[in-house]
Amino acid sequence: MELVVNGEKVVAEPREGQSLLELLRDDLGVRSVKDGCAPEGSCGACTVLVDGRAVVSCAQKATRVEGKHVVTQEGLSADERELWARSFVTAGASQCGYCSPGIVMKAEALLRRVPAPSRAAILRALAGNLCRCTGYQPIVRAVRAAAVDAPPARGKPSVASPGFRVVGTRPPRVDGAEKVTGRALFGADIVMNIISAGLSLWNDSLNAPEGEATIPTLLFLVLAVWSIDVAGFILSRALERPYALGVAIMLAYVLLSISIRATLFPATV
Ligand code: FES
Ligand code: FES
Repeated sequence: MELVVNGEKVVAEPREGQSLLELLRDDLGVRSVKDGCAPEGSCGACTVLVDGRAVVSCAQKATRVEGKHVVTQEGLSADERELWARSFVTAGASQCGYCSPGIVMKAEALLRRVPAPSRAAILRALAGNLCRCTGYQPIVRAVRAAAVDAPPARGKPSVASPGFRVVGTRPPRVDGAEKVTGRALFGADIVMNIISAGLSLWNDSLNAPEGEATIPTLLFLVLAVWSIDVAGFILSRALERPYALGVAIMLAYVLLSISIRATLFPATV
């Protein structure tokens, strides 16, 4: 079947009974869509837009979106994501951030229909989205701020940076924007990384000339990727820096070690 995901035409072959959430996360690698209770359909963490309507993707069969336009956080413009990030971070509306991408997509659907919703309308719209650690008052404030701050034409916004003033203010959370916009990775996303790396190596090995890639080689590579991934994640938490930076440091460390060893002890590499 064909569908459009974040503006790109996709050809997919959903498995029997596969949900839209599984199609997006497992087959297409869309990480901003979170699994909070699948297949219950009761927490809203997996909310995406289907033809402009907010739906919980874990309760939607993948086959039902054939020919439709699916939009996740990755499909919003950079300015729209910045606007949501700023509103949520300023209002302190995202603590662990697991629920935030789903809430943002639900709020995005609301603001596209009603550019200046009342508080009651926001509460109604977000009734199906659960947040277990922030509390709903800051979230409602964030959505109202996004509505006020929204540029005249949603979809083609242009948001100026608020600048970085620190003295006398509460600085924003280091990883706040990443969490709000679904770029922060959680445990399940890291497992996804490992599985994706393993699958792509497996594919490579099937296409490689005989003897070039063996199963032990693949396992070694998967373990190596896994180690860098986990070590990078732990480092990023320890330094309170973005996950990508932690992985980049670990990768640089591994490459540097290999090149030093290759230079000093070529026989051991
Ligand atoms: S994961 Fe879909 S509603 Fe909870
Ligand atoms: S911020 Fe943690 S569940 Fe909402």
